[in-house]
Amino acid sequence: MQREKAAFETIDDYIKQFPPEVKEKLEKLRTVIKDAAPDSVERISYQMPTFYLQGNLVHFAAFERHIGFYPAPSGIEEFKNELAGYKSSKGAVQFPIDKPLPYELISRIVRFRAGENIAAAAGKKKKKITIRRETEKDFEAVHRVVKAAFEKAGHSNGDEQELVGRLRKSDSFIPELSLVAEHDGRIVGHILFTKAMIGGSVSLAMAPLSVLPEYQNQGIGGKLILEGHRIAKKLGYRSVILVGHADYYPRFGYSPAGRWGIKASFDVPDENFMAAELVKGGLDYVSGIVEHAAEFFIESTS
Ligand SMILES: CC(C)(COP(=O)(O)OP(=O)(O)OC[C@H]1O[C@@H](n2cnc3c(N)ncnc32)[C@H](O)[C@@H]1OP(=O)(O)O)[C@@H](O)C(=O)NCCC(=O)NCCS
Repeated sequence: MQREKAAFETIDDYIKQFPPEVKEKLEKLRTVIKDAAPDSVERISYQMPTFYLQGNLVHFAAFERHIGFYPAPSGIEEFKNELAGYKSSKGAVQFPIDKPLPYELISRIVRFRAGENIAAAAGKKKKKITIRRETEKDFEAVHRVVKAAFEKAGHSNGDEQELVGRLRKSDSFIPELSLVAEHDGRIVGHILFTKAMIGGSVSLAMAPLSVLPEYQNQGIGGKLILEGHRIAKKLGYRSVILVGHADYYPRFGYSPAGRWGIKASFDVPDENFMAAELVKGGLDYVSGIVEHAAEFFIESTS
């Protein structure tokens, strides 16, 4: 029976209090857990032997009729089929004290929990990403980033990195709106907004947007878009149009441009030709065919 009131400093202290046959089981359990998560450290938490690895990993405790094992609700849920023969509840399972413990299963549960804690800790170590205006020194790195991003994209024509070069030299280029995302001094993303005309009104075309493949899905594309919007608004622009993924851009305020009567001058599915207002009413009375910078339509000869 667990002696609730005793204050244990260590797992040794905890185990010491039990009769030899229970002690033996607990020592074996301790070894199995340690072997499954060698980097974990032992401590007492909630008055129970605890293994800690970037957070509590698992706990155990001995009772009169069972050994309680506490691998967090996720540990129980993940192995619920294999634990079906045992009494369990959210985050806890009881192994009868008079039966052999399922050490192999316990080992797998601990490894699963270790993976979870490590992944969670990695996620928490958020990368510090700076968004800033591109300078001439960044041109080469931006070329590499755009190329790498689009190489992996199914819809690329392989010209996007050259397009950026052409647009920088064009009249539609706005230096304040060629932005890079930097991590640890390395350029990992880029966005460009250039001037476009819609039926006589000035707008912006967002293209291309690129994030290095190994940096994707970490919110960097979103940061570039939002910072671009902020600066564009400050500069007095009222809207942006783009060609892009129908699932991605609506979260940044984009919807099919057709709803404003805005059309592309080239073939593109309606759902992929999108527009957003940077200010309320930014597209009121704006409609017609978008005139992108001519550089969009010149294929690179290199
Ligand atoms: C599109 C791109 C810029 C997004 O940048 P990112 O930093 O990965 O994006 P974020 O982290 O801000 O957002 C990730 C979200 O975008 C979604 N997403 C990324 N690429 C997508 C695609 N091709 N189609 C649909 N959704 C996409 C992800 O599924 C994820 O969605 P979730 O948040 O619902 O899980 C990046 O994937 C990229 O460089 N792709 C290759 C080049 C390209 O396609 N550029 C855009 C041309 S229109």
